[in-house]
Amino acid sequence: MQRRDFIAFCAAAAAAPVLADDAQPRRYPRTRLVGQNGAPLLAKMVPVNRNLIFHYPYAATPCFLLNLGRAATPAHLKTADAKAYEWNGGVGANRSIVAYSAICAHKLTYPTRDISFISFREEKSAGNKFASVIHCCSEHSQYDPAEGGRVVAGPAPQPLAAILLEHDPGTDEVYAVGTLGGELFNEFFEKYAFRLEMELGRTAREAVNGTSVVQPLENYCRQQVKC
Ligand code: FES
Repeated sequence: MQRRDFIAFCAAAAAAPVLADDAQPRRYPRTRLVGQNGAPLLAKMVPVNRNLIFHYPYAATPCFLLNLGRAATPAHLKTADAKAYEWNGGVGANRSIVAYSAICAHKLTYPTRDISFISFREEKSAGNKFASVIHCCSEHSQYDPAEGGRVVAGPAPQPLAAILLEHDPGTDEVYAVGTLGGELFNEFFEKYAFRLEMELGRTAREAVNGTSVVQPLENYCRQQVKC
């Protein structure tokens, strides 16, 4: 390599962004999940098959917390760029509690205070041939929360990002500690910058730290679209 080319190569390498590896767990601040009264949310208090929502790892990034009522065992998955990763399954005494980013992996539909096009569905329906899936009504991507958020239908190119949970068997408390899979937060903040600024001002990208309030989706969101 000529010296001039070598210098150009070094300059390009120095300027290249460091890309996050979606196939590796990413640690964020360990955050205790709490109820709307501020008390720690105990795993045994999480109702089965109910849409619960909290925000993590940023103030503006919503996540679903689900008790599937049955053990969710480890699953092997792939990101959109074909990187393999392993999701470790559910937590809690029955390994039935799981959490996922509520930002659709297709075009980033997410639950707002006004409306939600994406939610967990226990039952099959006309537009939903699978039971017990997270269904996005925008273009009908469906994800299996018992399988690490695997895509079972629709155009989504990769699973929902999993929120990594820790369960303290002594206290029965649940903590969010990180993410695994294609988290898409940069794309989310870019796409919805104006809306998030209007709703949350400068706090939208603040890291959640300490506690995060878990609440029923119907309390958080005025209207749920069921398709
Ligand atoms: S944005 Fe969810 S399926 Fe298209």
